[in-house]
Amino acid sequence: MTALAKKMNVYQTKCGTCRYNSGTLNDRHEIQMPTQLLNGKAIADSILQQIRQNVANQTAAGHRLPCLAVILVGDDPASHVYVRNKEKGCETAGFRSISHKLPADTSEADVLALIDSLNKDPEVDGILVQSPQPKHINPNKIIEAIDPKKDVDGFHPYNVGRLATRQPLLRSCTPRGVITLLEHTGIKIMGLDAVVIGASNIVGRPMALELLLKGATVTVCHSRSREVESHVKRADIVVVAIGKPKFIPGSWIKEGAIVIDVGINRGEDGKLCGDVDFESAKEKTSWITPVPGGVGPMTIATLLQNTYDAYLKHIA
Ligand code: GUN
Repeated sequence: MTALAKKMNVYQTKCGTCRYNSGTLNDRHEIQMPTQLLNGKAIADSILQQIRQNVANQTAAGHRLPCLAVILVGDDPASHVYVRNKEKGCETAGFRSISHKLPADTSEADVLALIDSLNKDPEVDGILVQSPQPKHINPNKIIEAIDPKKDVDGFHPYNVGRLATRQPLLRSCTPRGVITLLEHTGIKIMGLDAVVIGASNIVGRPMALELLLKGATVTVCHSRSREVESHVKRADIVVVAIGKPKFIPGSWIKEGAIVIDVGINRGEDGKLCGDVDFESAKEKTSWITPVPGGVGPMTIATLLQNTYDAYLKHIA
């Protein structure tokens, strides 16, 4: 230990996730790891700026703008906010965006016909149908109608299958965004124990496949899982996507773990909060995402990355 480190009460120690890290002694003379915030907002902003620069280079070379088409059926207020944020993301990245906001009683056949025309439009790179959709529309039919090359949500069984067979093409936005966040920690995922809580098609399942592709040992917990606490307690990486405010207490988190909180909930105090109790968890983690400002902005930045990737193939 260096004299300076000793003076500053800073110790080199081995931790569960990174090989070595520095920590300080707390009142109980235990080494405490300073947690670091995974600032999704800042990382997402820099991704958007990079894409904007890439788009400027493409148009300077004579190419058209990338274009994302979004379909929203019905008047779910949260979906309208999400779609507005996607439109704003397109503006920031310098994309063209097309929005089809359709009434709640639009027939499934009409939505399928619209998807068909967007599939055939050579100037559209990405097609996204916002979920949830009204009950009379079968979401699987909608997803399967989208051309997999324009499936920038990465939900089509073809794209999920490509990820499952280690040949990823267009990947689901939130899980791909989480991998980008994990890469920002500089910690190697290979061989770590990762626990994903939530097994939805949008987040949990593709998240597990992403982590498996990175070489993690992956456990998926869901609503029927027993002993969720015991799984979380031995995890080096915890990704939570269940939509239950502060469901995971800090006491479940292993010292030095990385915690990625996908949940966005309204807490009892009326404030936005995640699925993890941030205040107690941050005392244990090496890295943790805040809510808001963590995973949320990354989902949109990744959607634009996917659209840009699709665009590059379309203009090639
Ligand atoms: N609803 C909630 N999240 C998503 C998403 O990532 N894509 C779509 N299409 N709908 C959503």
